[in-house]
Amino acid sequence: MSGMDEEKLHAFVGKMLGDLGGAFSVPTVRIGFRLGLFDALAKDAATAPQLAERCGGLSERYVREWAYAQAASGYLEFDPEAGRFSLSPEAAMIFVEQDSPVYLRGAFDMVAAMIEGEAKVEAAFRNGGGVAWGDSAACLFCSVGAFFRPTYANAIVQQWLPQLEGVVDRLKAGARVADIGCGVGFSTLLMAEAFPNSEFVGYDFHPASIADARAHAAAHPGCNNVRFETAAAKDIAEGGFDLVTMFDCLHDMGDPRGCARHMLEILKPDGTWMLVEPMAGNRPEENMNPVGRLYYNASTMICVPTSLAQEVGEGLGAQAGEAKLASLIGEAGFGHIRRATEGPFNIVLEARH
Ligand SMILES: C[S@@+](CC[C@H](N)C(=O)[O-])C[C@H]1O[C@@H](n2cnc3c(N)ncnc32)[C@H](O)[C@@H]1O
Repeated sequence: MSGMDEEKLHAFVGKMLGDLGGAFSVPTVRIGFRLGLFDALAKDAATAPQLAERCGGLSERYVREWAYAQAASGYLEFDPEAGRFSLSPEAAMIFVEQDSPVYLRGAFDMVAAMIEGEAKVEAAFRNGGGVAWGDSAACLFCSVGAFFRPTYANAIVQQWLPQLEGVVDRLKAGARVADIGCGVGFSTLLMAEAFPNSEFVGYDFHPASIADARAHAAAHPGCNNVRFETAAAKDIAEGGFDLVTMFDCLHDMGDPRGCARHMLEILKPDGTWMLVEPMAGNRPEENMNPVGRLYYNASTMICVPTSLAQEVGEGLGAQAGEAKLASLIGEAGFGHIRRATEGPFNIVLEARH
């Protein structure tokens, strides 16, 4: 082909090989999580027959092929002399340690959920409509909850809340907190456990998420300062909150401006709104990087369709960026807005009256 640069083509094909290798690994990695294959290797290295036996008598032939696939991906180490597979401590953080900040089971499950929702989102490309949060894929909501949990478990209490002015002292003393768009409730529960003198309400408009959140709460029997309610953000009737939190959900809402105005009403006059949103620059070209790539894809398949399925249908997108978010919050009537902190995947904004 005229004008084609042979070297560039080779580099491009090499990149695609890596990308497709990751995509091809999604089903085998998910099987590895579900059947306990990674967990079993965390204890000790094993040959394929030993691994099959350790996982309760799986078919050795499948386990062997699976293990070669993971080794070819670089996820397992392979000792050809001994025919043994092992998991490095670093790989264990990704595949085994559920409280590690980089435990990725939820991320792999999210890929499957996005593929499940493909036909509905494709139809929405044609008709311009939305795909409601609960309609896209059976486990979209649970995989999204699992995707975010490792970050939240390591950041909300330890890193983010302490960056807000005076908030931790209020939480220690006893505050009223609303966690809005709480999904399956991990963020709410993490805060409720850390601040037993405060009272937490998790709200989400998706009833199945609230049912899961209640089940998660029941698994923490000592944690009786938290409850979960089904409500759209703009319809929350209770008020007098010292703190409102929103984790990775304002951009999913159909009417984020209306929601922001409602936040002013339900917060106490000296209350704080902590808004956690995906990391993004203010211009699209600033997001042409691996994090932006994940978020733009998820935004196309999940966030924009969720927003367009609701009234107003603003379709802010996961990569809106701080400037757009701050202007939206300012227009709603908040006088004080600042970036309190950030992580590799999130920006954390603080808004007050
Ligand atoms: C990407 S998920 C984040 C869930 C949770 N905060 C987390 O980080 O795991 C977005 C959440 O926003 C909720 N949501 C979207 N629009 C909403 C609205 N208008 N009112 C209340 N919840 C809404 C969805 O049901 C979903 O649980």
